[in-house]
Amino acid sequence: MKKLIDILETENILDKEQFVYLLANFGLNELEYAAAKARKIATDIFGYDIYIRGLIEFTNYCKNDCYYCGIQKSNCKAQRYRLSKEQILECCGTGYKLGYRTFVLQGGEDPDYSDDKIVDLVSTIKNEFADCAITLSIGEKSRESYKKYFDAGADRYLLRHETANEEHYKRLHPKEQSLKNRKQCLINLKEIGYQVGCGFMVGSPYQSMECIAEDLIFIHSLQPHMVGIGPFIPHADTRYAKEPHGSFELTLFLISLIRIMQKKVLLPATTALATIDSWGREKGILVGANVLMPNLSPKPVRKKYSLYDGKACTNEEAAECKKCLEERLTFIGYHTVINRGDYI
Ligand code: 5AD
Ligand code: FES
Repeated sequence: MKKLIDILETENILDKEQFVYLLANFGLNELEYAAAKARKIATDIFGYDIYIRGLIEFTNYCKNDCYYCGIQKSNCKAQRYRLSKEQILECCGTGYKLGYRTFVLQGGEDPDYSDDKIVDLVSTIKNEFADCAITLSIGEKSRESYKKYFDAGADRYLLRHETANEEHYKRLHPKEQSLKNRKQCLINLKEIGYQVGCGFMVGSPYQSMECIAEDLIFIHSLQPHMVGIGPFIPHADTRYAKEPHGSFELTLFLISLIRIMQKKVLLPATTALATIDSWGREKGILVGANVLMPNLSPKPVRKKYSLYDGKACTNEEAAECKKCLEERLTFIGYHTVINRGDYI
């Protein structure tokens, strides 16, 4: 099996059967073998620098009904909120002082946040914080909308593909949502010139090793600048409330494999990973991740942006969380840097 990891390192891809074999049969030996390679690749490129992104969850209104997600429109228990432009700018100001040079504006697909409002928001932030990068993560939009945001100054876009397998996609989403459109969005974003991030959940309901193999092959074909992966975690008010969360070890293994196949990719150790293991983020870094995305949203709304249960770091103010994270990074020999952390 180590041979397959060696092949992945030189070829940057395996075929589907090889991936399935690796994913279904790996053990501690392979986990450590892949982790050592992945960490070496990451430190050769980034040293011990960790890029930080200030995450601003500016609306939890959503017109979609992803079955796994706590803020799906059918969840009438979700307490909805929407941050104003002023509140968002305040988050950026706080973040800037703390050393953040990337702001990630993430939200549900909220029709109230029209293209005009997004354009205004992006250009205002760009004006006030000229040395910062803006990442949008607001779902599926038309090519024209994506272009408008880009022209207003947005630099990057995160849109997890969620699963590259059609059948699996249908089990996670209502029929109004299609994998075809989601993939097309990613292609459009890339063509427009964004640094693009795709990604998927590990251990989502009905996911098989074949699905994950297809995810990895999709990533190879898209060649994204960023890949976000984290374990699926159930949310009490969804149909998948009783499903188990995704495997921690498998998530770590996948972080390593993605680093090995896409050497320069920007790879976050996600909040979901920190949620299922108290040292999840740090372990993610030690197996090949190089990005952290701490929360800059105002404390009162943090818990309301509830995609899954038990979300980590919801009780700390932005400054406390940053300090905590710095200490934790020091503990493992890494540190944050004050720069945009663009794709090289
Ligand atoms: N568990 C883990 N991740 C989730 N996401 C949404 N719901 C869940 C969940 N229950 C992820 C999706 C989405 C990202 C913003 O959060 O992959 O793209
Ligand atoms: Fe956020 Fe510790 S990293 S509180």
